[in-house]
Amino acid sequence: MAAEIIYGKQLAEEFRLEMKHLVDELKLKGIHPKLTVILIGKDPASQSYVKGKQKASDFLGLESEVITLPTETSEQELLQRIDELNNDNKVDGILVQLPLPRHIDEQKVIEAITPEKDVDGFHPMNIGRMMTGKATFLPCTPYGIIHMIKAKNISIDGKHAVILGRSNIVGKPVGQLLLNENATVTYCHSRTKNIEDYIKTADILIVAVGKQAFVHGDQIKEGAVVIDVGVNRTDSGSLVGDVDFDSAKQKAAYLTPVPGGVGPMTITMLLHNTIKAAKQRHA
Ligand code: GUN
Repeated sequence: MAAEIIYGKQLAEEFRLEMKHLVDELKLKGIHPKLTVILIGKDPASQSYVKGKQKASDFLGLESEVITLPTETSEQELLQRIDELNNDNKVDGILVQLPLPRHIDEQKVIEAITPEKDVDGFHPMNIGRMMTGKATFLPCTPYGIIHMIKAKNISIDGKHAVILGRSNIVGKPVGQLLLNENATVTYCHSRTKNIEDYIKTADILIVAVGKQAFVHGDQIKEGAVVIDVGVNRTDSGSLVGDVDFDSAKQKAAYLTPVPGGVGPMTITMLLHNTIKAAKQRHA
């Protein structure tokens, strides 16, 4: 039987409507959640992500500000800007769009953002809280993935989750969140030997490697839940994920499309974290 497609775009729209009500309620109490994004340089993909965040913020009625800085901005200048935002009482969430130019130490920047405004969930304090299962800002893509799985009432408890990719933004944290939900988790990466042996045992397969058609339908277990986090541009200019969609659809029970799958959920969870930050800061 063909897989049920999990349309993240539709789930994101439903969740955004709920969140819009929350924002309206906060405004009645005099709380106006505000997200500030810092964008350095002119990377087209980053510019497009930031535009998406602004559009979604506008829909919810969140205040959003984008600080655009030139590529030559020094690390010191950026840290100074972050310090100002940390101390600006009107700002609830701070996001520095990654990747940064090579002369800037990304980890230093992540650690400069006060954990109370770290709506990306990248600060070591928030990562640590996530590891211990305590309430915190969860990284947006992994958080969106868990939200999608739960929205479909797919059980995670006791399932074998296989994660392909070990980035700090997606692979590592999504494995931790699935572990927090009682999955048995296996991480695979570029040095994993015989990766297909792991793929075929996955009840839940998260693919975040950044390679078009990395996973093919004949490799996956019948009835698996397949979440495709990849975003790759083909030679003809269209966007595709890391999973060969048509063949995977024949084997999986659930499958996310690209585009319109995980991507829209990521922005939604960012805005969810921003609302949470505003609530916590004004509690
Ligand atoms: N670049 C790509 N994804 C992300 C993200 O989730 N947060 C930030 N800050 N930059 C990104």
